Amino acid sequence: MELSWFKKGTIYQIYPRSFNDSDNDGIGDLRGIIEKLEYLKSLNVDILWLSPIFSSPNDDNGYDISDYCAIMPEFGTMDDFDELLEKTHNLGMRLILDLVANHCSDEHRWFTEAKKSKDNPYRDYFHWQQPAEDGGPPNNWMSFFGGSAWEYDHNSGEYFLHLFTKRQPDLNWENPKVREEIYEAMRFWLDKGVDGFRMDVIPLISKREGYPNAPDIGFRKILEDVYANGPRLHEYLQEMNKEVVSKYDAFSLAEGVGINHNNAGLYIDYDRKELDMLYHFDILECTIVNGKFEEASVFDLVNMKSIFKKWRDAVHQKGWLANAMGNHDFARMVSRFGNDEQYWSESAKMLLIMQSTQNGTLNIYQGDEIGMTNIVLDSIDDVRDVQSLNFYNENLKTKKHSNTSALEMINREGRDNARTPIQWNSEINGGFSEKEPWLKVNSNYKTINVEKQDNDPHSILNFYRHLLKIRKEHDVFVFGEFEELDFNNSNLYAYKKVLGEDEIIVILNFGDFQNDCKVSESALKGKVLINNYSDMKIYEDTIRLKPYQGVILKV
Ligand code: GLC
Repeated sequence: MELSWFKKGTIYQIYPRSFNDSDNDGIGDLRGIIEKLEYLKSLNVDILWLSPIFSSPNDDNGYDISDYCAIMPEFGTMDDFDELLEKTHNLGMRLILDLVANHCSDEHRWFTEAKKSKDNPYRDYFHWQQPAEDGGPPNNWMSFFGGSAWEYDHNSGEYFLHLFTKRQPDLNWENPKVREEIYEAMRFWLDKGVDGFRMDVIPLISKREGYPNAPDIGFRKILEDVYANGPRLHEYLQEMNKEVVSKYDAFSLAEGVGINHNNAGLYIDYDRKELDMLYHFDILECTIVNGKFEEASVFDLVNMKSIFKKWRDAVHQKGWLANAMGNHDFARMVSRFGNDEQYWSESAKMLLIMQSTQNGTLNIYQGDEIGMTNIVLDSIDDVRDVQSLNFYNENLKTKKHSNTSALEMINREGRDNARTPIQWNSEINGGFSEKEPWLKVNSNYKTINVEKQDNDPHSILNFYRHLLKIRKEHDVFVFGEFEELDFNNSNLYAYKKVLGEDEIIVILNFGDFQNDCKVSESALKGKVLINNYSDMKIYEDTIRLKPYQGVILKV
């Protein structure tokens, strides 16, 4: 077993735009992060992942990069970045950046050049195709954010490919110059000392030859078989690893879009030398039926257990996963998997117990450490996320749902839920900024905020700190062999983890009512390492768990 630092370390994702605004312009920034480094250290997290901080016109909040080696002016300067990196390292933490290499911004020089003419040297940095016979797009590929994935360019009479917004043209990885440009950018940051990259939609970089039409097999299958996992993908990833990442003490974390448990090994098996770990979408999407903004979400605990299990079995001893239950692309964790009203605090804590004892690197998202919840936006004018806006505007045309229902869906599943500014205190704008923030602060900031929880020993925040500390002291949390107990129980999630002499038993009640769990004698005699309530009722061989109670027993 390789005990690399990135396996045991906890990753904390920062969405800089919403983290902390130091210059009061309503937008979070790098100096805002610097101001909060001690806070981050106090959480006992080890690796900070910054969502993109590079120059960008922000059509998709930085996931549309116009210069890979420059800092977005709204976020600060290169000096600010250097200071942030140095101070992060001085505090014993690491820093990884978000590499968006499948596409860039339409304002990137590569694209403004490419658009000039068909024989421009940058033309081949992108995917251009002649119109179909009827003048329409060359094939039926759809953008992830709605509409055709092809945009017509009047100047040249050709279409270019964009799997995301039309302002995010896909880069042509077939072109070795494109690959070298990306590797150069990676080296630029690695030479500065960054500790790795989260790799945005990396499974999409190799396109299928001839751009064949997608068959009618449902979005998930199309994603896997048509957009992701292209023919030269693994060649590129091996090259990237060999040429760049392996030369540094750095790691890669892939966004596993379009990867399933059967092909995951191709990306992360140790002997393939491609990527160090990935987070998949099966857990993140397990409450979403038929894709975002479709049907009401459903949570089924046995289904969640089986997802964890199939992934655990698939990568067992061969590769490594990151374990994420929330990020900037999904609604808030406690609102989706817990009970964000009556059992808000209990369920937020219980979810962390589960997440921190699953296999893989723990990956937490900003604000979850204080149990931030979904927001209710009353008007479409308050929505900022391009995916939600595209859905709303498309729906205005198709009239599939009423406007009220469309807004309700956005409030339930939209990405803005996770992007509202961090609630630091009960002052104006939750202490995030003195100026009106770019996206509304959740109106519950007076009850849910860092300052309040900092002073409360029973808060979610202090529970996170405590649990992450305990996790560091017990390798069994991370590396233990996992054994399910009572798999088919639809209210309780109970399991054992064993590493050498060390054994822990984890019991989680997902119900908002009490539940009994029979346990072995040795477990009953064990020490309670973690409990999200102040007590634990035992009757003979049974533990009676309160709503959303979670315990870790050390046997
Ligand atoms: C990833 C990012 C998401 C972004 C998309 C396009 O899924 O996490 O925020 O919109 O890629 O770059």
